[in-house]
Amino acid sequence: MSSNENPTLSISHELALDRDCTTLSRHVLQQLQSFGPNAQDLSALMNRIALAGKLIARRLSRAGLMEDALGFTGDVNVQGEAVKKMDLYANEVFISVFKQSGLVCRLASEEMETPYYIPENCPIGRYSLLYDPIDGSSNVDINLNVGSIFSIRQQTGDDPDQTGQDLLQDGHQQLAAGYILYGPSTVLVYSIGKGVHAFTLDPSLGEFILSEENIKIPRHGPVYSVNEGNFWQWDDALRDFTRYVHRHEGYTARYSGALVGDIHRILFQGGVFLYPGTLKNSQGKLRLLYESAPLAYLIEQAGGRASTGRQTLLDVVPTHLHARTPLIIGSQEDVELVESFIEERDRQHDEELIPTS
Ligand code: AHG
Ligand code: MN
Ligand code: MN
Repeated sequence: MSSNENPTLSISHELALDRDCTTLSRHVLQQLQSFGPNAQDLSALMNRIALAGKLIARRLSRAGLMEDALGFTGDVNVQGEAVKKMDLYANEVFISVFKQSGLVCRLASEEMETPYYIPENCPIGRYSLLYDPIDGSSNVDINLNVGSIFSIRQQTGDDPDQTGQDLLQDGHQQLAAGYILYGPSTVLVYSIGKGVHAFTLDPSLGEFILSEENIKIPRHGPVYSVNEGNFWQWDDALRDFTRYVHRHEGYTARYSGALVGDIHRILFQGGVFLYPGTLKNSQGKLRLLYESAPLAYLIEQAGGRASTGRQTLLDVVPTHLHARTPLIIGSQEDVELVESFIEERDRQHDEELIPTS
């Protein structure tokens, strides 16, 4: 034991947590300082998301011992990506958990081409849940971190053809957003527009307990997180940025192949995550409504910035349910640095277009 580890202190610290553990639903009500119907709704909605997280975490923790938990289903989803059994399981967990909630009228997810309606909930539950059931599914079969991403919006319009046209709104309209990270412990991070808070699942209680309140992302951090395998597929500006971090001290690369884990690191330690457009896909890979916008909402609430490179991410209005956008997200200064490289290349490009007399 090192000299600064005092066993008495650590025991009393744990006891203090035991006496005053704040659960997620209580925290939502405290945040809203209300027991009114909207506060009750949000508290109940967060509670259901927590339940989905617990069910998914439970399956993930034993997946290697179960038949039919890992591997591919053999199907391809609306994105053209091969579906994993865990993608399907987690997608269905959210559906069944919210069927019983009475509050959510429809769910839209990466794994479903059109929204899933729960007609019996619609007269009372005017909320929509948008989610990525398993984010980073390439990690799932090798027991590395994955996540779930969620966003809650109020249903504002009618959706006569049930394609989710009224969901095509900017990210400021989100009522709540966050993620669950399935790592060495399961952590739920959320915001309802009043800061960012993290809860850790205590498996012995079966409850998410407040572990970090009012998280603030550092204004600058050392990490840049990007798939450099795509280097030759990016615009010059992104290559300029990458060369800059290679040539300057104080930067380090971290990329796990799962957005939630990479963002979680940056939320606590600072830095920037990038998924820019590529030659193959000018809008990059990440989907706006249930990947980029919820994370942008969270990071902005923590004092950071999210951008497409040329536009604040939360201002983007998607053209369809599964629309993608380039994503540059993290510490204010680091995102601005990337944007400055893009601005400079755009300026040079504009100058080249002006005819010289
Ligand atoms: P999903 O598993 O939901 O399809 O998302 C995977 C995403 C994201 O988690 C990650 O940052 C990115 O895809 C990794 O993509 P590359 O393999 O192209 O780097
Ligand atoms: Mn994803
Ligand atoms: Mn996914």
